[in-house]
Amino acid sequence: MDRPLAVRARGITKCFGDVVALDGVDLEVARGRIHGLVGPNGAGKTTLLGLLLGLAVADEGRLDILGVPIGRALTAPAGVAGFVDGPGLYPSLTARQNLAALAALGGRSAREAGVDDVLHEVGLTDVADDPARGYSLGMRQRLGLAAALLTEPRLLVLDEPSNGLDPAGKRQVHGVLGRLAANGTAVVLSSHRMDDLQALCSEVTVLATGRVAFSGPPPKLAAENGELDYRLITSDPEAARALALGTAGVRVVDGAAPRHDDAALVVRAHVPAVDELVVRLVGAGVALRELAPVVSPLEAAFLALTEQKETGG
Ligand SMILES: Nc1ncnc2c1ncn2[C@@H]1O[C@H](COP(=O)(O)OP(=O)(O)OP(=O)(O)O)[C@@H](O)[C@H]1O
Ligand SMILES: [Mg+2]
Repeated sequence: MDRPLAVRARGITKCFGDVVALDGVDLEVARGRIHGLVGPNGAGKTTLLGLLLGLAVADEGRLDILGVPIGRALTAPAGVAGFVDGPGLYPSLTARQNLAALAALGGRSAREAGVDDVLHEVGLTDVADDPARGYSLGMRQRLGLAAALLTEPRLLVLDEPSNGLDPAGKRQVHGVLGRLAANGTAVVLSSHRMDDLQALCSEVTVLATGRVAFSGPPPKLAAENGELDYRLITSDPEAARALALGTAGVRVVDGAAPRHDDAALVVRAHVPAVDELVVRLVGAGVALRELAPVVSPLEAAFLALTEQKETGG
């Protein structure tokens, strides 16, 4: 709790013409933490990340990056690296040449900057001498991350870094981010994947139409749930259905299970009512083969929060 803050944003507002992209946003990210931004398309995630990178300036509010107040001038704050909307690369240069060029901008040789190590860390060693123009989305993401790592940032800002990564690539990138955080770097990233955020982030901020709908640890978000839909597979679907209909606090959700899934029963309930149903099933000699939420509690909480905010206007 006493860790120094890498990001401290208070009441940040940013408009594009009539569009209020960010509306009084607060954000705190401590050093050594990975913070996730999540929210529907157009919620303001990229806009907020762009402010952290110094790509734009807020209309209102106060922003401190690595302890330094950000003024009105458009400058990249020292110690910050990352990208939004995909990394900027020289398409005709290879990955190795792209990184060497960046190192040269900082007055270092490729060797001094550790280009080979960084290429290895993001898994690009085998294609390091191919031109970047032939790179897939996932390979470009990895090269963008490599470019950011080269500067040894104390704050790393990434817009949907898992986009386009295969499962092995995702694990590799997660590993890199985890190691950075363990060494004291703060990471702020956006994602549409709740499972990624759950695996990576100690805190998440949910944005909905430019406002903070939630900020805190993922388990706290998951706990914000009311009722959830649960899918049950039993040895006797008919009997299970009858028991569910007769259990207080349990509603049977017809049509929620996929059509090919005849054996599944979907119920909507709070946890205590689900417990009661399970006790009754077992008591009636109906075996329970599977019981799981239809969507993860985190995803359900996210949907509930953002849908509410969108229709509430
Ligand atoms: N340069 C710009 N000019 C005009 N409007 C913009 C600009 N950048 C963003 N906006 C608007 O600001 C709002 C927030 O956009 P932003 O790109 O930050 O959302 P996002 O959360 O990153 O969405 P996505 O999940 O689709 O990436 C949107 O309504 C968008 O149309
Ligand atoms: Mg975006």
